[in-house]
Amino acid sequence: FIKVKVLIVGSGGREHCLAWKIAQSPLVDKLYCAPGNGGTSLVAENVAIGAGDIDGLCDFATKNNIDLTVVGPEAPLVEGIVDLFKSKGLMVFGPEKDLALLEGSKVFAKEIMKKFGIPTADFEVFDNPDKAKEALEKKGVPLVIKADGLAAGKGVVVAKTINEAVEAIDMIMVEKKFGSAGDKIIIEDCLSGEEVSVLVFSDGKTIIPLVSSQDHKAIHDGDCGPNTGGMGAYAPVSLLDESLYRKINEKICRPLVEGLAAEGKPYKGILYVGLMIQDNEPYVLEFNVRFGDPETQAIIPKLKSDLVDVMLKTIKGKLADVVLEWDERFCLCVVLASGGYPGSYEKGKEIKGLDSLSELQDVFVFHAGTKQVTSHKSHVTCQESEVTSHTSEVTSFATSGGRVLNISGLGESLGEAQKRVYEAINQIAFNGMYYRSDIGSKALKFSR
Ligand code: AMP
Ligand code: GLY
Repeated sequence: FIKVKVLIVGSGGREHCLAWKIAQSPLVDKLYCAPGNGGTSLVAENVAIGAGDIDGLCDFATKNNIDLTVVGPEAPLVEGIVDLFKSKGLMVFGPEKDLALLEGSKVFAKEIMKKFGIPTADFEVFDNPDKAKEALEKKGVPLVIKADGLAAGKGVVVAKTINEAVEAIDMIMVEKKFGSAGDKIIIEDCLSGEEVSVLVFSDGKTIIPLVSSQDHKAIHDGDCGPNTGGMGAYAPVSLLDESLYRKINEKICRPLVEGLAAEGKPYKGILYVGLMIQDNEPYVLEFNVRFGDPETQAIIPKLKSDLVDVMLKTIKGKLADVVLEWDERFCLCVVLASGGYPGSYEKGKEIKGLDSLSELQDVFVFHAGTKQVTSHKSHVTCQESEVTSHTSEVTSFATSGGRVLNISGLGESLGEAQKRVYEAINQIAFNGMYYRSDIGSKALKFSR
C-alpha cells in the first residue's frame, strides 16, 4: 500500500487525540499538526499556521504534498476549507461549506430537520428582537433561545423565566455579544431528559455510528454554573440500547444523509448528533459537522480499527467496506482546566507530574492548552582532574489555554475507568488547576 502524509488542523484535546491515533496507523508516512499544542508535538510535527488561516493551510498542504487533511474544529469547515482544498485536488476529511451550515447556522439546521421530518423541539425563527419578545408571553416558559451562528457553545440560553428570555434576546440581538451570529435567533420548546451524543461516519450513502458518549458541559459538579466547551465525557452510554440506536439511525441519521444526497449534497465526514432522550424517544438538539471535544478523547481510545483507513474510505465513498472494531471497555475522560475558565484565567503555569503518568496502564494524556517549554540546564562533571561543563535540553510543559489537559482511562466498568482517571489526576498539578470531580457519576447512579 501507499503511505500517506497527513495534516491535522486544530490545537485542542480532540486534535491531540486524533494525532495520537493517526500516528499509530501503518498507512502514515508523516504527520503534521497545525497549529497543534504541546502534546501534538510528541506525535506529530507542529506547523505554525492557525486553524483559521485556510489559505495558509492550503499552501502548506500543496507544497508538502499532503495526502489527507483532517479538520478538527468547526470554524474552518464553515469558512470553506474543504471546498478550497478540493479545488486544488487535495483530499480533506469533512463536509463542504454548504453542509457545514448544519453547525454554522442553527436556523438552517432546524429548517432541514423540519423538511426531512427529523424529531426536534418545535421552534420559531426571529430576526427582530421586539417581535421575539412579543412572542414570549404566548409561548410561556421554560424556553430555549439560540443564536443562529457560531458562538463557541455559548449562544444558547435555557430561560426559566420571561425575564431571563428577554435578557437572552437582548444579549444576542441587541448587544450583539456574538456579532452577526446573533442577527437571527431561534426560540424553541424546552425538552427534558438525558443528553447524549452520537457521532457517525457518513460517506453520503453509508452511515457507520461510533460508540455513544455523554459530555458534561457545565463548569461545576452537579451540572452547575455556566456552560463550557465540555469538562469531561465517557463512552459508551448504557442508556442508549440497541432499540434507541435503531431509532436514531432510522429517524435522524438516515433521513438526513439520504435527504441531502437526494438533493445532490452527499454529506462526507463526521456528523455529530447532539440528542435529548425524552420518554425513550430521541430529539435532535444540534448537529455538529466534526468530532466532539472532549467526546473524542473518550471514544477514540476504544477504537481498534485504523482511523486513517476509515477516513480515506469516507472521502472515497467506500464506507460500505468498513466494519469498526471496538475495545469493549468503558472510557472516561476528565478535563483539567485553568482556574477561572470559562471566564478569564492565567497562562504559563508549569505542569508537574506528567512523566509519572506515562507509566500507568490504560491511562492516556491528551493535551489541549499546553505548550512545550525547553530550558537549558548546565552541569559540571569532574573526571580525573578534568572539569567539563555541559548543557542539556530539558523539556517540560506549561499551560497556555482554558482547557489544559484531558486524562482518559479505560476500565472494565464505568466505575473502574472513573477511578483510574481520578487516581492519575492526583499525580498532576499546576497552579490554579480545576476539574470536575463527578464525571460519569450521574450515569453510575442510574445504573445502580
Ligand atoms: P445546542 O448548542 O443547541 O446543543 O445547545 C446547548 C445546550 O443547551 C444543550 O447541550 C442542552 O443542554 C441545552 N439545550 C439546547 N436545546 C434545548 C432544548 N430544546 N431543550 C432543553 N435544553 C436544550
Ligand atoms: N463537547 C461538545 C462539542 O464538541 O460540541
